[in-house]
Order: sequence, then C-alpha cells, then structure tokens
Amino acid sequence: MAYQFPTGFIWGTATAAHQVEGGNTASDLWLMEWMKESIFTEPSADACDHYHRYDSDIGLLKGLGFNTYRLSIEWARIEPEEGFFSKAALDHYRRVLASCHAQNVTPMVTFHHFTAPLWFTCDGGWEDSKSVDRFARYCEKAADALGDLLPYICTINEANIPQMITSMREASGRQSKPGGQRDRALAEAARLCGGEPGRFAPYLSGDGHKATPNLIAAHRKAYAVIKERVKGMVGVTLSLTDYQAVDGGEKLRDEIDHAVNGQFLQAMKGDDFVGVQTYSRTLIGKDRLLPPPNDAERTQMGYEFYPEALEACIRNAVKQSGCTVIVTENGIGTEDDTRRIAYTERALNGVINCLKDGIDLRGYIHWSMMDNYEWLEGYRPKFGLVDVDRSTQARKPKPSAYWLGSIAKRNAF
Ligand code: BGC
Repeated sequence: MAYQFPTGFIWGTATAAHQVEGGNTASDLWLMEWMKESIFTEPSADACDHYHRYDSDIGLLKGLGFNTYRLSIEWARIEPEEGFFSKAALDHYRRVLASCHAQNVTPMVTFHHFTAPLWFTCDGGWEDSKSVDRFARYCEKAADALGDLLPYICTINEANIPQMITSMREASGRQSKPGGQRDRALAEAARLCGGEPGRFAPYLSGDGHKATPNLIAAHRKAYAVIKERVKGMVGVTLSLTDYQAVDGGEKLRDEIDHAVNGQFLQAMKGDDFVGVQTYSRTLIGKDRLLPPPNDAERTQMGYEFYPEALEACIRNAVKQSGCTVIVTENGIGTEDDTRRIAYTERALNGVINCLKDGIDLRGYIHWSMMDNYEWLEGYRPKFGLVDVDRSTQARKPKPSAYWLGSIAKRNAF
C-alpha cells in the first residue's frame, strides 16, 4: 500500500551557487581553480550557466513535481570587496526568488555554501575570529534586501565539514605532508591574492579545530541577526555521516561522533530546524577508520553505497539537537541512473520509518537538481536528477527525475 506523506511535506532538489551559476570570479575557489598549482581537477568555468538560466531551471523542477528549491546566494558576488555590498547582485537574487514564488516553488536559501569572497579567505577565512562579525554583517545585508522572499534560510552549509575533514584525516593517520601539494597550493594562493603566507584558509582545506568555534559562533550570531529581520524558518545544515563501530570501535566512534556531529547538534538546540545532509556511513574500528566491506558497492565518490545511513542520521540529529529536521541533501554520484533510483528508494524508506515513529521531519530535498561542479572532482561525478550537456548546456531529465518527481506530486510512495 502506498505511504501517504504528511500534508505540506517538502519535496525539493538542491544546488549551490558556485556549483551551477558559472563565472564566480570574486570567490576564493575561482583563484584556486585557475592557478598553476591547482588541486582542482578542472575549473568550474561557466558551470551550468544557472546564473542566466534560473527561470527555466526552476520551471523544470516545478514541472517534474517538486514544490521546493534549495539554492544558495553567493557571498563573493554580494560582497566582492570587504564592506562593498553589490545592489546589482542582491537584485539578481531578488529576481531568482521572485521567479520561485511566481512559479509556486518555495525557495530555501543557503547564505554560505563553501565558497567565500577572495578577500575573506585571503585574510584567514573562518580560522580568524573576525569571520564571526564579517559573516553576520553579510547576513544582515542579505536579510534586509531579500528577507520578505525567504521562507527558509540555512545560514551555513555543512558547518561541521572543516571539522569532519580534519577529524577523518587524524583518525586515518593521514597527515598531509608539510610542503605537499595542498600546502603548495595554499601558499601560491596567498601570494597571488597578496595575503600573508599561511593565512589563506579556504573552507574545505583549512584547519577544522581552528574554524569550528568561529563557525558555531557565526551561526549563532547570524541566526539572531536574521531572526530580527525575517519571518521565515532559520537553521544550519550539517554533513552527517552514520559512524558505525566494529570490533570494539565504540569508544573511538563516540569521540568522532561528538567532535563531528554532537558538538554542532548540541549548539543548535532551539533553532527552527536542523538540515540533515547524509550520503553514507563510515566504519570505525578500535583505533582507526576501516574501509567499506570488500563486497560493498561504491559510488563515484569512492565511498560506500549505503542509503540506510539517512535514517540513522535523522535519528541522531533529533536525539542530540531536539530540533525539527529537514533532509536538506541526500543523493548519489553515479553514471548509472538505475542506482540513483535504488539508492533514493531505500533512503526514502528510512524517511518513512522516522515519520511513522512521530519524528518531526518536514521534508526531503535531493542533491542535486542537475549534474554540476563537484568541487575538487570537477564535472566527473554525476549527482544530478537532470543531465546537463557540457557543450550546449541543454537540460535533460533522467528517469530518476520523473520517478522522484511523481512521488513528490502524489506526496505518496
Ligand atoms: C555538499 C555539496 C556536494 C555534495 C556531494 C555535500 O557535502 O553540500 O556541495 O556537491 O555533498 O558531494
């Protein structure tokens, strides 16, 4: 028998500005993608030209059956130089949001999704405590300019990911070699932007221990600033992995779960919601991380195909934060669209189990609306429900898009 989701359940797809817009030239990553010592497989370049095609892209997702679009606004466009807020950039995002409302699609907007203005990263990024006030000032301007169009706001995308990357590196004993490729890239970037050596700190390759207290404080301050101005719901999103102990790994698992998930979830108590973003699990032995089982299927990202992680992470998020939960990202990088359907079907079963248990779970947003720029990996991993022809930018929904769209339309599975 079909399961009927609660009335008003959020069915969405997600993107992030840098991954789809194209031409994000004032951002930190644009510099890192184009320089000689680049650690990126390829530059984002024109991406999916969503900056100009947003109206038809939003129409496409509506036509498929989704009621919500999670997108991000780009700080580097809005504040390309410290203290200069571009009215033209804010007006652009007003048009994007107006297009959502006109097409009856609810926008959910992330204020910071990995990329930052070059000046910010060049001057210590999130590792400098000035980041807290800098971010709050940007949120204030964005909320003033766009607030009336914003029913849902995510302050920071995956505020725990610098900590996760750092903790995983430590637990696997993989210290990046001083003077290795990453250090050389950061040194070159610092030189190119005229910053002090050692201070160029992009979100995904910085030091999680230094960034975490600032990220939590920045979310708290931004939350207050936004709530003063906007009626909508405000929260943060977290990258939640299902950490599973094997062979006596409970102690290490609990330590990692606290450092990467718990300290963030506990700091979000009382927020309007927490965004859960889950892709897989990680096995943890007595004193180290373990690889996936030998016979496990892997995704294009190298990690295990394990959709059951979503249910475990929703439950963990609720237990540790007490907040309402929205799945703000879940998906799979694969060339085989039948595996996307299989993955999502199993993940949705987990969503249903949570709803049946009375968990306050408001929606499911799939990553991603379309194939896009997957950061260091470039355009190879395919997370999209919609295929994008890289030479013509033509969009073509995959069978998974029609499949998930029809579940969204019927609000039943
Ligand atoms: C990020 C996305 C990314 C996705 C797939 C999430 O961690 O928010 O930007 O593309 O995972 O790797």
